[in-house]
Amino acid sequence: MKHLTGIDALSDADVRQILTRTLAMDAALDAGNPPDGPLKDQLLFNLFYENSTRTSLSFAVAGMRMGAHVVTVPVAASSVHKGESVRDTVLTLCAQGADFMVLRAGGAGTIEAARRAIEEHGFQTAIINAGEGAFGHPTQALLDAATILKSAGRTPEEGLDGLTITIVGDLVHSRVASSCAPLFARLGANVRYCGPQDMLPEDPPSGVVTMTTNREAALEGADIVMALRIQLERLSADTSVDPVAYRADYGLTTDSLKAAKPGALVMHPGPMNRGVEIDGDIADDQAHSLILKQVAMGVPTRMALLEFAAT
Ligand code: NCD
Repeated sequence: MKHLTGIDALSDADVRQILTRTLAMDAALDAGNPPDGPLKDQLLFNLFYENSTRTSLSFAVAGMRMGAHVVTVPVAASSVHKGESVRDTVLTLCAQGADFMVLRAGGAGTIEAARRAIEEHGFQTAIINAGEGAFGHPTQALLDAATILKSAGRTPEEGLDGLTITIVGDLVHSRVASSCAPLFARLGANVRYCGPQDMLPEDPPSGVVTMTTNREAALEGADIVMALRIQLERLSADTSVDPVAYRADYGLTTDSLKAAKPGALVMHPGPMNRGVEIDGDIADDQAHSLILKQVAMGVPTRMALLEFAAT
């Protein structure tokens, strides 16, 4: 079994293999011809300490498509409220025979600590990072890269060479951006960060070539623009955000997107706050919005990742 703790833990060959298998799984699903139960009788636990719709459900769907048994841990009704640590809960599920542990947790280093605990106890469970606080969300970055490749008609070998991808929003709190920026850059893209000063990181992840508070400058010539939600749950209680002012300065609107390349594609990892970081007509513009394509790509990406972890 292999773990997936972060983008940096994957070699270039791993990334190519996962993306190649993702696109193959996607084509197989489209053709109504999913793989025939390669993970039959394997046990997948979804253990999410932070809310999720797309990620947890797509891991569940991916596991079922691969023939695995999927158990979604009811965290709110579990022994967490009796004081049990993440580490002890992970070990408990491993002792019940988990083959895959899909873990979303808030604290920095939680995923890595869970991996160490699994190995120290000699369990053969693969741990998969399904989002760690503000620090990383590697499976989201992989599905985003696969979505871009598919829509550009490129192979994983061709990668994202020459594409300019601007990520706009609350970058300092975004685990999605923390994983997307280094992955997109490894695949050859130019990655730009744009947001209000207090939402830009002091120390951006590798791969970010420019960082600016100026939306027009950040969008100029961009092939792809990704909007991010303001992570209100991670802002300190005394910080307030005026959604109207935010939209005026950082929202993706028909007007603001004029600065990007004509025909630029729009992405958003969800959940969206329409009328704040992205206007509804931009999100629903089927010719240019990749948002539901990202959601759809979540399933084959997680199928490919389960296959990768199982080998
Ligand atoms: C995001 C997440 O939870 O990291 N969504 C996702 O996984 N698709 C983004 C967010 O919460 O804003």
